[in-house]
Amino acid sequence: PKPLRLGIAGLGTVGTGTVKIIQNHAALLSKRAGRPIAITAVSARDRHRNRDIDLSDYAWEADARVLAAREDIDVFVELIGGDEGIAREAMTIALKAGKDVVTANKALLAIHGQELAELAEANGRLIRFEAAVAGGIPVIKAMTESLAGNQIRRVMGVMNGTCNYILTRMENAGLPYAEVFEEARKLGYLEADPTLDVGGIDASHKLTLLASIAFGTKPAFNAVEIEGIERVSIDDIRRAADMGYRIKLLGVAQMTARGLEQRMSPCLVPADSPLGQLQGGTNMIVVEGDSVGQIVLRGAGAGEGPTASAVMSDVIEIARNVRLPVFGQPASTLLSSQAARTAVP
Ligand code: HSE
Repeated sequence: PKPLRLGIAGLGTVGTGTVKIIQNHAALLSKRAGRPIAITAVSARDRHRNRDIDLSDYAWEADARVLAAREDIDVFVELIGGDEGIAREAMTIALKAGKDVVTANKALLAIHGQELAELAEANGRLIRFEAAVAGGIPVIKAMTESLAGNQIRRVMGVMNGTCNYILTRMENAGLPYAEVFEEARKLGYLEADPTLDVGGIDASHKLTLLASIAFGTKPAFNAVEIEGIERVSIDDIRRAADMGYRIKLLGVAQMTARGLEQRMSPCLVPADSPLGQLQGGTNMIVVEGDSVGQIVLRGAGAGEGPTASAVMSDVIEIARNVRLPVFGQPASTLLSSQAARTAVP
């Protein structure tokens, strides 16, 4: 069988992890996918950074947009990040050039997802983004495939590991926010722009994508009501603990009579509940479906191995020729978040 040929743009943590899986598990992947998975070309900002991987078999492109248009790739793997600029341009070029796209880019899809999904469908292509939401947790496939027979009632959870690390560390060590924030920075947990984490923005990008899939609505990041963790004090945490609660940065999406409600804010959760017990830099997603009841998914929401694991699940799905609509149903059938209302008044 013909190999599935990848062009990988972005060789940071996730890109490097993806190359490692492809190199280390070639035989396994080939059996699972039904054909070899091959990297044709790669691109990154810095060619010579030491990544602990051998790139000598792959063509090098300095510009991801050129990589996206190469005739000898079938799938454009976008691991650059950012909601504008090169990532958006390169993805657009790839779709127009007839490539399927695999991405970890939550911001880009949360903000421009509808337009990109329409472009993908117009070109008979697909965009897969398991790695964009909660790293290694297979929540996109859980919702679009395994739970496809359910009407989803609610999806919620802890979607930013850094915030969960900060909040649990404040509680466990009795340290103030500013001190733990510095600690997180030194440990390299914070995004280059820390507001993405502590301002609840990164988590809201993820919530936007989950809400779209859960409720058949156009991804609408602007409609998320966002409050970050910057103002959570050690006193808040202590008072909550005295009452048997923990404070978590919780994302909640649910359909109401007024339309889709999407909220990201510090919330009290019972200390003995699965969400309350979530420690450190972990993620947890809770999905409630009318038939299945409640599903709890928990795991690493970031990091090289977990996020690359999610990228590979998308690559293998494409190799198997599984072709699902971007947000679980055709883009033309997605409703605006105001137009969508629960059937129950
Ligand atoms: N900064 C994110 C987190 C990484 O802490 O969860 C993945 O978006």
